[in-house]
Amino acid sequence: MKRRIGVLCSGGDAPGMNACVRAVVRAGASEGWEVLGIRRGYAGLLDGDAEVLNNRAVGGILRHGGTILMTARSKEFETPEGQAKAVSRLKELGVEGLVVLGGDGSARGALALKQRGVPVVVVPVTIDNDLAATEMCIGVDTALNTIIEAVDKIKDTAAALRRAFVVEVMGRRCGYLALMAAIASGAEMVILPEIPLEPGRVLSELEEARKRDKPHFIVIVAEGAKPTAEEVCREINNQAAGEDEFQARVTVLGHVQRGGTPSAFDRLLASQMGAEAVKLLASGQHGRMVVLRRGQVTHCPLEDALRAEPPRWAELYSLAEVLAQ
Ligand code: F6P
Repeated sequence: MKRRIGVLCSGGDAPGMNACVRAVVRAGASEGWEVLGIRRGYAGLLDGDAEVLNNRAVGGILRHGGTILMTARSKEFETPEGQAKAVSRLKELGVEGLVVLGGDGSARGALALKQRGVPVVVVPVTIDNDLAATEMCIGVDTALNTIIEAVDKIKDTAAALRRAFVVEVMGRRCGYLALMAAIASGAEMVILPEIPLEPGRVLSELEEARKRDKPHFIVIVAEGAKPTAEEVCREINNQAAGEDEFQARVTVLGHVQRGGTPSAFDRLLASQMGAEAVKLLASGQHGRMVVLRRGQVTHCPLEDALRAEPPRWAELYSLAEVLAQ
């Protein structure tokens, strides 16, 4: 009988997830294995919701956002009983190795399976880029390009009316998207969850931008930052009362950032990382996360990946300030 491995997507989807599923299936087939696609993440695993995927079943998905396997967040799987049930399900399904595509929470779930003896490999997929063990997660590059395209458009209308725009981007705990988008789109200011903002700073930055004769004042705010995008908008409008120039509007980019066709970078990263995950299972090196370091796809123990210190962003934050002048 053919050896069988499983693949599932967990947590928030991200562009490139499909490309990664395809890579796992085709790299698995080239090892002579059967690959079982488990639908709806750990929730689907608990229900035994799965089907065998052959090379044709993953044809044409490389360029699509979302995931053909669907994804989920499962409360039941977070419990010890749920995890024990998942292990039994994997045995019933004949799965001898599991590839998990997802972010931080999904990797913690995979670690729980590892501790119960399941040969598991995690591929980091999340637009947040909040897994410090890897330079890039799958989906980040596409999301960033979506944000930049939106901010470019917002700048056109902002300059036409000389307005302030507050743009909220995703990132509950991690300011990566906000900071990189601010640098790449030339925003006047960025607010991150990791860097506290002194009171009055937004208005003083706005004043400085006006003095420098800036045509607009674009503030990019990460979802998890304080003040929030709404609060920043209100603060600007309270002080601009009666004045037409530099009135503020807020744009929440929301889930638009999670969809769309994956960029070339994400397709390549997903293809390489998916294949690497299979290689790790083939060589018995499981319990690991595939990561990108110094531009190379490599891997590290799951425990180390989940302990990695998040970056502080000080240098890039200063760069964003300098370039906003
Ligand atoms: O973790 C990915 C992410 O897109 C976060 O940036 C965001 O805070 C969250 O998921 C949104 O979750 P949901 O899709 O459940 O609203």
